[in-house]
Amino acid sequence: MTERLGYTGMNVTVSVLPEKLHIRADEGENLLKVLTRAGFGINASCAGKGTCGKCLVRVLSGSVPRAEGSRISQTMREHGFVESCLAFLTGDVTLEIPAASRLKGQKTLTSGCPAEEDHGAKQKPCCPAGQVLHVTLAPPCPDNPLNDLDRFKAGIMAEYRKRIQPEISALPECSCPDLPRLQIPLEMIRELPEVLRDGDFHVTVRLASGEQEHTVIDIFPGLTHPPLLGLAVDIGTTTLAAALVDLPTGAVLAREGTYNPQASYGSDIISRIIYAEETPGGLETLRKCVVDAIDGLAAQLLARVGHPASAICSVVIAGNTVMTGIFYGIPVKWLRLEPYVPAAVALPAMRARETGLRFVHEMATLLSVPGVSSYIGGDITSGVLVTEMDRKDELSLFIDIGTNGELVLGHSEWLVSCSCSAGPAFEGSGIRCGMRAMDGAIDSFFVDPSGKLGCRVIGDSAPSGICGSGLMSLLALLVREGITDRAGNILRKEDESPLGLKVREGPEGLEIVLIPDNELPQQQGQAQAQG
Ligand code: FES
Repeated sequence: MTERLGYTGMNVTVSVLPEKLHIRADEGENLLKVLTRAGFGINASCAGKGTCGKCLVRVLSGSVPRAEGSRISQTMREHGFVESCLAFLTGDVTLEIPAASRLKGQKTLTSGCPAEEDHGAKQKPCCPAGQVLHVTLAPPCPDNPLNDLDRFKAGIMAEYRKRIQPEISALPECSCPDLPRLQIPLEMIRELPEVLRDGDFHVTVRLASGEQEHTVIDIFPGLTHPPLLGLAVDIGTTTLAAALVDLPTGAVLAREGTYNPQASYGSDIISRIIYAEETPGGLETLRKCVVDAIDGLAAQLLARVGHPASAICSVVIAGNTVMTGIFYGIPVKWLRLEPYVPAAVALPAMRARETGLRFVHEMATLLSVPGVSSYIGGDITSGVLVTEMDRKDELSLFIDIGTNGELVLGHSEWLVSCSCSAGPAFEGSGIRCGMRAMDGAIDSFFVDPSGKLGCRVIGDSAPSGICGSGLMSLLALLVREGITDRAGNILRKEDESPLGLKVREGPEGLEIVLIPDNELPQQQGQAQAQG
């Protein structure tokens, strides 16, 4: 996504359909940059290098000269398609963004752990990230003139010893201190005298927990039951998944997921690191867009359960080392330079609002699940904790295949882990007909009752491409039917292979035609498997 020089100052308008949105831009600006700035999530898988062909837009009126390097076919060019990352504005233009070029609309897996599906039920015990305490104090009198703050602290500690400490002590392998360090911010101390007397020295306290301390974030007069929610966020390279948790019970109240908007700056980790490193303000751009997306998820979740932002007292994030570093605004460039050392794998607790999150309590704590090493991040630590493979006697293998792939093998006595780049192939990048799991994506192939190849398309629409699940399904089927070998080589050279599939000579070698051109939407061309 390079800037082109040589154009100066004249404003142009980019009109986007079907949104009917009109964007003001400078002549000479890069089209992908303009669309991204306007809030469109464009699939810029190769980070604007012009090699992936995923950022296509269709120009309906006006002209957009392309820079050198376009790889799309003559037919598509004739239909008005251009790679937005290679296009620079010379005048007003009206365009549409095909669904396949948009990040929005992809399916996001936000659940899968059966134990969490039992909404409302008591969940596995865990060290709570927040507490609601009912504190009853003796009012001051001439014989007991202790100041309000010390009286309040003593009341909290007494309640903690009586109710919370026995629960925490019973948790297996709990490393929480017997008695927490208590922090009472100045703004709470200012409110304290009034609230104590309003409640006749009966108060309800909300505590948010850090690593070794609790912070008083609210004091309510009287004995009430304010909501106490936690926001758990998995920051994936491609997708974000969030869950709203009722902290007293551990029950998951609602889940939501979306794409990681950083994908507009490259679909894989290395592209993001390069963008953060080489683009002025790049790290902050990436950080801000993921924070805003998490904020959006929090807002949706709160709306669904009917609670205000102040109900979220604790935020916990987990992600690979790069995603976590970017979220905190920590430079990540060292992760791609020998000896590949990150700035940190465990970060201290802080106030969530300091990151820019808004849909949380103003004093909510932010915790991140610690990673293990450069390429084994907090997301994998989370997986091990949830599966409890570290407590089992039998050998378990944990596999996380995303844009990166991580494996953990072991049992209660040892664990070993490794990671690799699974590549954005599972997100459709680098595959001519690949796409994300969204409407129009084929997510599975099968042999239908008539013995022909059948497929399932997300959204019951015309097929536009193949997503990662579809690719896995297809490869398995082709091997099973003897059409390819395990290395992907096409075994049949006749015109027709089993399942009625045509094999033909293409520009890059043998091709299996899965779906003929005339059954595909215009912009996608043909779906092929190549030998
Ligand atoms: S071709 Fe434009 S982002 Fe890859």
